[in-house]
Amino acid sequence: MEIIHISAECYPIAKVGGLADVVGALPKYQNKAGKKTAVVMPYYNTKFTQNKSFRLDHRNTVSLGGLLYDFEVIQLESDELGYPLYLIKIPGLMDRENVYGYTDDTERFMAFQKAVLIWILQFHDKPQIVHCHDYHTGLIPFMMTYAHQFEVLKEIPTILTIHNAQYQGQFSFDKLNYFPEYDLSYSGMLEWEQMINPLAAAVKCSWAVTTVSPSYLIELRSAANGLEWLLDNEKGKSTGILNGIDTDVWNPATDPMISKNFTKQTSLSGKRNNKMFLCDKFDLNPEKPLFAFIGRLVGEKGAELLPHIFDAILSNPKLDANILVLGSGDPTVEHQLDALKEKHSGNYNTFIGYDEVLSHIIYAGADYLVMPSRVEPCGLNQMYSLRYGTIPIVRSIGGLKDTIVDISEENGFGICHDNTDTNEAVEAIERAIELYKDQPRFKRIRKQIMQIDHSWDSAANNYIDLYNKLI
Ligand code: ADP
Ligand code: GLC
Repeated sequence: MEIIHISAECYPIAKVGGLADVVGALPKYQNKAGKKTAVVMPYYNTKFTQNKSFRLDHRNTVSLGGLLYDFEVIQLESDELGYPLYLIKIPGLMDRENVYGYTDDTERFMAFQKAVLIWILQFHDKPQIVHCHDYHTGLIPFMMTYAHQFEVLKEIPTILTIHNAQYQGQFSFDKLNYFPEYDLSYSGMLEWEQMINPLAAAVKCSWAVTTVSPSYLIELRSAANGLEWLLDNEKGKSTGILNGIDTDVWNPATDPMISKNFTKQTSLSGKRNNKMFLCDKFDLNPEKPLFAFIGRLVGEKGAELLPHIFDAILSNPKLDANILVLGSGDPTVEHQLDALKEKHSGNYNTFIGYDEVLSHIIYAGADYLVMPSRVEPCGLNQMYSLRYGTIPIVRSIGGLKDTIVDISEENGFGICHDNTDTNEAVEAIERAIELYKDQPRFKRIRKQIMQIDHSWDSAANNYIDLYNKLI
């Protein structure tokens, strides 16, 4: 293989958020564009890993602070993903149900990263590029550059893509013995604020850094959860590359998960059918515009404002709206969102949890998608929405700023507000309700957004250009 993507998540094997969607799609489009690209990730106990056949590729041992772990690298037998998939199976450490959230995540991802390098070490033909995603793989560029054991990998260019700089995976220098031997005078490359910081180490050590949208790259220089100075300092090797979407998976004309398929030409009846399905299932009124939220219920998404925003809209008798929420996260927000069901019964409902199929039906059936994000490195939801003819209402930040143009501007097609603020979000929804009353304009915009091309077909080439420069 020429390019190897290393990631904690990859759709459809294991998904927590957009990282999985990107790593599950980008390699496929890079292969289509003529690059030999593969993905390596941990083996977790997921539905996918339990139901598919794998062949053994490699067997070895990885040490971690004096403990030895046997591991296997297994390869998916079928070529259904459009790229070779390798899983690092470390019994007792990685083979659990969830991707993250365990007290030994530091140990898990450290062992994973070392095992990946041990595996690559024995390749006859070494990869041309090692592409790391987020902090879970952030120690790889450091180990490739400075660890004696991996010295022969030193000349391979490494890339870090930052999907989310909020999470950095810091741990104490007490765990320095987890690292393979290296010249200790380079410990500063691992350090940020007296901790080992995998994301900071990756920014320092990788040959190039990318962020998942151009605006996010600029924003990180003033808001990067403590890494602002570092990101500003490394701007010379950094680029913002907007994510694409997998238009094989996210295609309303063929999507097997939605209740009726549709194209731009049949969007009126197709969207109505999906909306009826949702309204039946969630006891909503199909005559009113349907606003939806899909996502992790965390501060970055502005989740704690959602109960207030929705309550304000639904308590105003002059406003006609229905609201449906699909998400999980902060238990207080989950509870507050659920508590509104009784007060606004018939106009409001929630599904607290994770449901991939329901998410597709909501993109297909809603009229509007609400995203009051505080931080949004790229955001895929708004791009899925566009493709399914659902108008996004977004706070203009990061990738939302780069993809959504307000209807007040020339050729605008979305509704934007400047701040993550209850009143601004409420006003934005009020504008959307007004737009909905003007059905000819509303339908015109719906058709317009379905034509916007955010496919990886074009976006994948931006990475290939970067690889070529590094090689
Ligand atoms: P992030 O990665 O920050 O969560 P993105 O917009 O990049 O945000 O991607 C989120 C992805 O996760 C999308 O594919 C979205 O549809 C999906 N998603 C988020 N929450 C849920 C949920 N509760 N059920 C199903 N899909 C979800
Ligand atoms: C992260 C970001 C999100 C982005 C996704 C994929 O999870 O929060 O904005 O779309 O990664 O790059």
